[in-house]
Amino acid sequence: MIGRLNHIAIAVPDLKKATAKYRDLLGAEVSLPQSLPQHGVTVVFVQLDNTKIELLHPLGEHSPVSGFLEKHPSGGMHHICFEVDDLETASRKLTADGARVLGDGKPKIGAHGLPVLFLHPKDFDGTLIELEEVSGT
Ligand code: CO
Repeated sequence: MIGRLNHIAIAVPDLKKATAKYRDLLGAEVSLPQSLPQHGVTVVFVQLDNTKIELLHPLGEHSPVSGFLEKHPSGGMHHICFEVDDLETASRKLTADGARVLGDGKPKIGAHGLPVLFLHPKDFDGTLIELEEVSGT
């Protein structure tokens, strides 16, 4: 069911420092910071040949990343994102098989303007999993 690894998201306490590390120390191509107020994050995309890393920093008061950084002050992996062809079908199959979809279970428009949903980390060995519908691939 799952396809390619779309991205790995890392919550970072200092976005400038983290960006500089990926750019200068690791020699990766990094984007400018993009503020996504509707998602409560500022994100920098690190473009790799085969996938992306997203450096996430909280934006605003109700950021989903704030609580994570309180628990992990030096930052850490926040989620991984797999591509799927059909999110509705994936969601139906997963919930029928006992996996928990976060929120109301309905796909939302994610940070890339495509439908996404998140699966409960407790069902996946402590890893928050995002599924993104990438149609036409
Ligand atoms: Co993501």
